Amino acid sequence: MEVISSVDEMRAIAAKAHADGKKIGLVPTMGALHAGHLSLIARARQERDFVVVSIFVNPTQFGPKEDYHRYPRSLEADSRKCENAEVDVVFAPLAVDMYPGGFDTWVEVKGPAEVLEGQSRPGHFQGVATVCAKLFNIVRADRAYFGKKDYQQLTVIRKMVDDLNMNVEVVAVDTMRERDGLALSSRNSYLDKREREAALVLSSSLETARKVYESGERNTKAIQTRVWNIIAAEPLAQVEYVVVVDAETLTPVETIERPVAVLLAVRIGSTRLIDNTVIGE
Ligand code: PAF
Repeated sequence: MEVISSVDEMRAIAAKAHADGKKIGLVPTMGALHAGHLSLIARARQERDFVVVSIFVNPTQFGPKEDYHRYPRSLEADSRKCENAEVDVVFAPLAVDMYPGGFDTWVEVKGPAEVLEGQSRPGHFQGVATVCAKLFNIVRADRAYFGKKDYQQLTVIRKMVDDLNMNVEVVAVDTMRERDGLALSSRNSYLDKREREAALVLSSSLETARKVYESGERNTKAIQTRVWNIIAAEPLAQVEYVVVVDAETLTPVETIERPVAVLLAVRIGSTRLIDNTVIGE
C-alpha cells in the first residue's frame, strides 16, 4: 500500500490503474477511521480492483466556530488500518495543495443542501461538494462510497453527481452502530462517560419513530413530536432539529406515503451529533 500526499502523484497512479483496465473505488474520509469507515472500505474492496482511501480534514466544510482544529487526526494509525483492509492507496493531501493561493472555484448545490445542516452550518455543503468534486477528478474513481450516517451529505453528493453528469456512481453504505445503538462517528471521541450515555437518546428516539410507524402512524408531525419529546427529556441533550422528510428530496411531508427520512441533530454537552433512519421503505 502506498501513502501519498501529492495530487500529481495520485493523478498519475489513477491514470496507470485506468490504463491497466482497473476499476477504481474511492472512500473519501477525514480520517480518525473507525469501524464505520472500515465497512465502506470493505465494500469498495469487494466491488473494485483498486481501492483509494482519501484522508483529508477539509477546512472549507468547517465554520469559523466549528471543530476544525480539534478534529482528531491520526494518519499513522489510519494508514495501518487501511493496510490491514488491503487498500491500494491512501491519498492524504495537504490543505495548501488542495486549496492553493488563488483557488476560486466552488460547487454550490441548492435544494437539499439548503435545509437542516445547510442552515445550521452555512457553507458546509459548499465545502463538502467542492472537495468531493476535486477528489472525484483527481482519483477518477468510477464508484465512491459514502455512509448513510451523513444522510443529507449523501443526498447532496448524489444531487451534485446527477446534476453535473459526473462519471461516478455513489454507493450508500448502512450506518454502523455500537451494540447499544450509538451510531459510529469520529466525534463520539469528544463525549465523556455521562455524555456517552446521554447520546443513546438519538438512536433510541429513532427506534421509537420506527415502532410508531410500524404500529400504523402515518402523520409526520405526530412522529416528529414523539422523537422530540424523548430527546428533550434527556437533561444533557439539546435538540437542534428533528424532521421527517421525503427520503429522496428532503422536502417536508405531511402523510407518509413513500419512504421518509427521520433526521436529527442534537447537542450533547458541547458535542453536536447527527443520526437518522429511513422508514416506509
Ligand atoms: O463525511 C466526511 O468525512 C466528509 O464530509 C467527506 C465526505 C470526506 C468530505 O470531506
